[in-house]
Amino acid sequence: MKNQISLHKIVWRILKMVMAACPLYFSAVCLIGVIHGLSWGLNTYAMQFFFDSVASAVTGQGRLTVVYWGLAALGAVSIGSQVLNGMHNFMTNTLYNLVPGHLGKHIHRKAARIEPVCYETPELLDDINKAQKGAGNSLGLLIVVVVLFTFYLPYFGFMAWYLYRLKPILIVSLVFIFIPVFITQLIRGAVHARLEDESAPLRREVDYYEKCICDREYFKETRLLGAYGFFKQLYLTALNAMQEKKWSVELKTHLMEIGMKMLTLLGYFGVLYLLFTALMNGEISIGSFAAVFGSIELMFSIMDEIVSHHIGGMTKDLGTVRNFMRFLDLPERTGELERVSFEGGMRFHDVSFSYPGSETKALDHVNLTIKPGETIAIVGQNGAGKSTLVKLLVGLYLPTEGVVEIGGADSRKISPESIYKGTTGVFQKYQRYKLTLQENVWISDLEAQDQTHLETAVKKADLELDQETFPQGYDTMLSREFDGVDLSGGQWQRVALARGFYRRHDLIVLDEPTAAIDPLEETRIYQKFAELSRDKTAIIVTHRLGSAKIADRIVVMDQGRIVAVGTHEQLMRERGKYAEMYQAQAQWYAG
Ligand SMILES: Nc1ncnc2c1ncn2[C@@H]1O[C@H](COP(=O)(O)OP(=O)(O)OP(=O)(O)O)[C@@H](O)[C@H]1O
Ligand SMILES: [Mg+2]
Repeated sequence: MKNQISLHKIVWRILKMVMAACPLYFSAVCLIGVIHGLSWGLNTYAMQFFFDSVASAVTGQGRLTVVYWGLAALGAVSIGSQVLNGMHNFMTNTLYNLVPGHLGKHIHRKAARIEPVCYETPELLDDINKAQKGAGNSLGLLIVVVVLFTFYLPYFGFMAWYLYRLKPILIVSLVFIFIPVFITQLIRGAVHARLEDESAPLRREVDYYEKCICDREYFKETRLLGAYGFFKQLYLTALNAMQEKKWSVELKTHLMEIGMKMLTLLGYFGVLYLLFTALMNGEISIGSFAAVFGSIELMFSIMDEIVSHHIGGMTKDLGTVRNFMRFLDLPERTGELERVSFEGGMRFHDVSFSYPGSETKALDHVNLTIKPGETIAIVGQNGAGKSTLVKLLVGLYLPTEGVVEIGGADSRKISPESIYKGTTGVFQKYQRYKLTLQENVWISDLEAQDQTHLETAVKKADLELDQETFPQGYDTMLSREFDGVDLSGGQWQRVALARGFYRRHDLIVLDEPTAAIDPLEETRIYQKFAELSRDKTAIIVTHRLGSAKIADRIVVMDQGRIVAVGTHEQLMRERGKYAEMYQAQAQWYAG
């Protein structure tokens, strides 16, 4: 049921986007196309006039001046259509510079609005991958359709009128030209749409394995593990599978095209025969015969061009363009509520959550109330559901069952724009942006751009700006690829923390951004953090229970459930899971 958006709907939608991007220029391209098409038709007419005048002059029936006029007219029309041809091509090509950025914006806008949880499904990743390709191809598709309608249609329309006036049966020639084109178009479209669907997951695999081999982030580990051969094998297998699919489709479509060309050729000779008999019977003039003879040749080569280049390319790309449209149609996060106040605290009412396509519950009937200004630590073993809880808490994901309330409002009802306002966070998988230190921090709140605020954030994260690591201070580029420096894992985490602190917020979430910082340092950072953000609500996810101590309350999770909540002392007295984990880690903090 996937490929149901019809071609005309697709064209209509792209047309609207392009018209929004550059209405005047696009209309001018269409107008030039029509005049260009008609000029080609006029050429046939001028040719007939010229040949007839020559024939009359040769037989002594006509005057030579008429021949000169005919020649002048033919020359003028030919030059005119050449100039128009150049203009039309130039203007069409310029569209490729003007429009793509605008189409890209549609993808970005959409990506920002679809349910974030959709990113957990591989199918969606495929769709985004295909959509990006489709956005690029959609302009090409529109241009082909527009050229067909504004240039080829007026030309063939003119020729139909011309041939009909000459001898109605000659119109058949046009039918012979068109039928194979349509059949080819239909089959091609279907075959390529299927190819696109089948090869997108393979393309993703190929890209990923290539990254594992060559990408800077991966290659150190790949080398060290001696895994180069392993990835290369995976890469080649996926690549071959993809090539095989492509090859078989190309073979089929080319064989079909050859068949269709034979049919067209048959029509070509049929028309020549018709023309010849009409001339011999005196039904048409010698000038008309020569003009049509020349034009038929032209019409067939134009048709060949349309089939092989335009329609061929278009139907090939249609699959990806459809994916672009499908992506744009994905459900978006709805919700009207514009203002969320964290002063009302946060509540989990019997919340359960399963990741898309997964049977097991990552969160299982969770109840929790967080008061405004409270610092909560979440602890528990790997896979206990800590990160999932945090993602629901900030409204990134919506619960499968139950209700998450942010400031008294159901997170389902909060608008996508306002949901993250007032929230900041540093997550387990934070980003290492290839930007300067200053930009790496500022990026979290671009409206602020405040130097003192920046320095405070960096201090809070305990990032030391020594001359050796940061030779240009805040302007040091944090990427070797851009002539900058490389940071250690711990230094990167501090940059990420500074970024999290810099953003204006009422709620801050720290999902283990400190794993690469040693336990004592981590505790120190958190202590400082707790002092400095006393009035803000803070959620800290950590495996180090020494750091959890600084929280007002500690939430202990196990297999998607909250098994205990309390202060450090309370939990130690309970002698439950928390006490057990704390004892195991106690030697880190001894002395
Ligand atoms: N994208 C996903 N799709 C399906 N299941 C997932 C996905 N992400 C996490 N899970 C599952 O949800 C459960 C909770 O994961 P979560 O990431 O919340 O654990 P965690 O407590 O943060 O663990 P860690 O300490 O390792 O970070 C795990 O069983 C995990 O397998
Ligand atoms: Mg986690």
